[in-house]
Amino acid sequence: MAHILVTGGAGYIGSHACKALKQAGFTPVVYDNLVTGWKDAVKFGPFEQGDLTDRARLDQVFAKYQPVAVMHFAALSQVGEAMSQPGRYWANNVGGSLTLIEASVAAGCLDFVFSSTCATYGEHDNVVLDEDTPQLPLNAYGASKRAVEDILKGFEAAYGLRSVVFRYFNVAGADPEAEVGEFHRPETHLVPLVLDAVAGKRDALTIFGTDYDTPDGTCIRDYVHVCDLVDAHVLGLKWLQDDKGSRVFNLGTGTGFSVREVMDQSRRVTNREVPFTIGERRAGDCTKLVSGSTRAEQELGWKPSRSTLDTMIRDAWGWHQTGHYES
Ligand code: UFG
Repeated sequence: MAHILVTGGAGYIGSHACKALKQAGFTPVVYDNLVTGWKDAVKFGPFEQGDLTDRARLDQVFAKYQPVAVMHFAALSQVGEAMSQPGRYWANNVGGSLTLIEASVAAGCLDFVFSSTCATYGEHDNVVLDEDTPQLPLNAYGASKRAVEDILKGFEAAYGLRSVVFRYFNVAGADPEAEVGEFHRPETHLVPLVLDAVAGKRDALTIFGTDYDTPDGTCIRDYVHVCDLVDAHVLGLKWLQDDKGSRVFNLGTGTGFSVREVMDQSRRVTNREVPFTIGERRAGDCTKLVSGSTRAEQELGWKPSRSTLDTMIRDAWGWHQTGHYES
């Protein structure tokens, strides 16, 4: 079976991608430094511990497995941290990605799937966000991802590296079989935090601002189920293997939900109240981020099937109750 090098395969999205790749007949080789990932999340193929910035280690792994493609998930991804420690984002997300891309080209592995983000768009009030929307990131996280998109374009022109770039909206949910799921330390994402509050693992959820210009005053995001998201990656890989050329795709459903709507749905799913307090706005948060593109559906044949708020929270709750990683 063909090997796919999956950087960040011990993390939330990468681990789900490994499961989807295995189901699609590939062998995912996880390359992860375990700084934010979990060894226990590596269940679907071999594991190689290493850092993105370690070129010699990368060369070894490319030589050992001769992967036919790379799926590059590994990144620092907290907007708040990116505001306070931007250098880490440039060094790891840009420097590390450049090292990986150079190693991939040197190994003759020229199909590359990259996790980018809607955070590359920045704040565009009342603008429908599609792939042609100008990218004006507000923080070093978004800027680092946009920079890697630029590197990929340059490497295509120079070396024929083909890439599929996915700009994610808000990823949520978990494997319905709860083999893998979302687990960050510290946790910063809304759905697991709401479920922690519901389960009494934290006192309360703090709503970051209720004075936004939205119907209920809280921020609106476009939530997409992690299993749907990784299905798109498998389709993206096939797109590259069919030699259709480099392409950028938004991955969102086009429907936005406010923080309060996520809390209400969590109450319905769990049958428990969500304890909460109201706090200040969080630096770097945009009012509303919703995808306005159907390119992935039209061109890749992507059909999200689990991305209703109900299913995402139900699956996240299933994982929350049974799943956790220790190492
Ligand atoms: N929120 C709260 N309280 C919390 C945590 C979050 O009210 O304790 C709110 C946020 O203000 C935001 C929404 O819930 O309005 C979602 O917040 P997340 O932290 O779950 O997600 P973000 O929208 O901030 O970030 C996500 C990804 C980033 C990506 C970004 C693009 O985590 O990697 O989407 O906007 F860059």
